[in-house]
Amino acid sequence: MHDIQNRTDIDHLVATFYGRVFADEQIGLVFTLVARVTPETHFPLLGDFWETVLFGQNRYHGNVILKHVELHLKQALQPAQFDRWVSLFCLTVDDLFIGTVAETAKIRARTMSMVLQAKLHTLTQSGTHPNAHGHVDTHDALVL
Ligand code: HEM
Repeated sequence: MHDIQNRTDIDHLVATFYGRVFADEQIGLVFTLVARVTPETHFPLLGDFWETVLFGQNRYHGNVILKHVELHLKQALQPAQFDRWVSLFCLTVDDLFIGTVAETAKIRARTMSMVLQAKLHTLTQSGTHPNAHGHVDTHDALVL
């Protein structure tokens, strides 16, 4: 077993992790039924995200917070679901890799999970819901 070293390792991590996520009783349906995530488009994007986070490559240009705000407004994401996401991620990292980058990946996943939950909580409290015209003001969500 070795550390996460390159994009090939990240792609392996992403594919294994989401394979488990999609099949998971607690959170699988959010991906397959609510968001209808397709591996062909989603996996490369997530590979870009983790390459940016772990290796400082400037590849991911999306907005993670906004994506989850949109999702949360469709179906409220629960703390237990975030816990499950993080557990599955950490288990998968531990099954496949060992080393400092692997440890960093787990820390970043946990941190991101906390940031996302805090953001969703704040936005929900401040009444960021679709208005009468079905419009969602996601401006606040753009600020991390
Ligand atoms: C309950 C927990 C979570 C659920 C159910 C969830 C679900 C999803 C779904 C369905 C998407 C696809 C959204 C779309 O394309 O419309 C997505 C995207 C993404 N998620 Fe999560 N997520 C969770 C937690 C996390 C955490 C903790 C991270 C931390 C690294 C994360 C990172 C990402 C990234 C990077 C994307 C890609 C965003 C983009 O399209 O630019 N997610 N998530």
